[in-house]
Amino acid sequence: MAKLFINNENKKSTIAPEIYGHFSEHLGRCIYEGLYVGEDSDIPNTNGMRNDVVSALKEMKIPVLRWPGGCFADEYHWMDGIGPKNKRKKMINTHWGGVIEDNSFGTHEYFELCRQLGCKTYVNANVGSGTVREMSEWVEYITFNGVSPMADLRKENGHEEPWKLDYIGVGNENWGCGGNMRPQYYADEYRRYQTYIRNYDGNAPITRICCGANSHDYDWTRKVLETCFEASYPHLHGHMDGLSLHYYTLPETEGDWNFKGSATDFTEEVFYQTLKRGSFMEELVTKHGNIMDEFDPEKKIGMMVDEWGIWTDVEPGTNPGFLYQQNTMRDALVAGITLNIFNNHSDRVKMANIAQLINVLQSVMLTDGEKMIKTPTYHVFKMYAAHQGAQLLSSELLEAGTVGSDKNELAKIYESVSEDKDGVITITLTNNSLEAAEDIDVSLTKDADSYNVCEASIVKGTMNAHNTFEAPEVVKEEKFDAIQKVHGGFKITIPACSVASIRIKK
Ligand code: AHR
Repeated sequence: MAKLFINNENKKSTIAPEIYGHFSEHLGRCIYEGLYVGEDSDIPNTNGMRNDVVSALKEMKIPVLRWPGGCFADEYHWMDGIGPKNKRKKMINTHWGGVIEDNSFGTHEYFELCRQLGCKTYVNANVGSGTVREMSEWVEYITFNGVSPMADLRKENGHEEPWKLDYIGVGNENWGCGGNMRPQYYADEYRRYQTYIRNYDGNAPITRICCGANSHDYDWTRKVLETCFEASYPHLHGHMDGLSLHYYTLPETEGDWNFKGSATDFTEEVFYQTLKRGSFMEELVTKHGNIMDEFDPEKKIGMMVDEWGIWTDVEPGTNPGFLYQQNTMRDALVAGITLNIFNNHSDRVKMANIAQLINVLQSVMLTDGEKMIKTPTYHVFKMYAAHQGAQLLSSELLEAGTVGSDKNELAKIYESVSEDKDGVITITLTNNSLEAAEDIDVSLTKDADSYNVCEASIVKGTMNAHNTFEAPEVVKEEKFDAIQKVHGGFKITIPACSVASIRIKK
């Protein structure tokens, strides 16, 4: 039997709601069809945004949405996406399938979508093929409330008031698709670009995100910080507020992007291998975090893991450039493990954006015409939503053992615990075993006997269980009742291959 010790007298960091963030790129059917169908569509919509999708995302409590890419961001020229739609430039989306991008979803549409979702905004500016002027004019267009060429243009295009821009990314993957730059070169460019991110609304500074490393490229992190972080400018946080990190979990061949493996058809060995690779996030966050600590011991700069998730082969018969993949209980476990890791590192991780929101990579929803289904990953995000903005509690799990073997061995249970402003404690758990349930003895250091379960749910199933348009509820959030109140805490029996959320209150 495993033991989970919760010290509810030791509140650690605040779990930034943005850890539960998402990413939407002009890629495949993410923006077009997935989110935006246009005002004239037969699919019920509000100002072109799908009503079914918006309402499910609100229910999941989406906190922030990154846009327009990804690799697309460093080829995106925002002025192509404003003004009358019939006059907007058409372009080839060279990165993703070579399809025509008609720019009908642009800046106005993005801010309208975020308004409907009630979420924070995060635009990624173009450094790879853009200019400082282009980026600074975009910020002016979006945020300036006075008289200026860009503010006037925004008004001409029908939006009198400025929008609130919460985050700006200065380039994307500039070590790769964003210009193939070396760290020192990018870092100097970053310093120059960020200078022109003007804070027009003195009360609402824009969080500036510097392009961070790919996976375990610790050299990138160090070199960028050496150039961009200056302790002598503490009021500027050394020129940046956030440093990104990208890490994708490839199930089959490590590093071989031509053979990533099927989303639904895999062996038990590949299942454990995938979870093990997903759990590598713990090491990445720790090691990149240690380097950040050397420069920024007060942890003023957030680690922004603004792309993560499982990347498999596309579904047979679909456009390879569209990255459309199914989503199983394996995805739910990788999501549950990763979100527990982020919660437990919430002193440093201030945002994370799973890739990508809809119809691309590890999505929370899939669409087919007017049909929409929620994936197992959706249910995990919804079940974990209570952690958003809560205080991480100190917790320790003992005697749970491991699963998988050799290089694929990983902890059987991943957990994190938080307490919200009303004193409700949320415990989230994954059972990574395909065979065995686990009994967990949960104890609390303070007032243990006065707590009762107020809400508990679970997603479970076989390792490749997934939802389809024909059978949309094979994996769904269900009531979880294998919880017993005992003296000093609770006894929980968590079934094999499941993710659970248990909420207790006095
Ligand atoms: O999410 C798909 C792509 O993966 C993004 O465009 C890019 O940033 C990353 O390589």
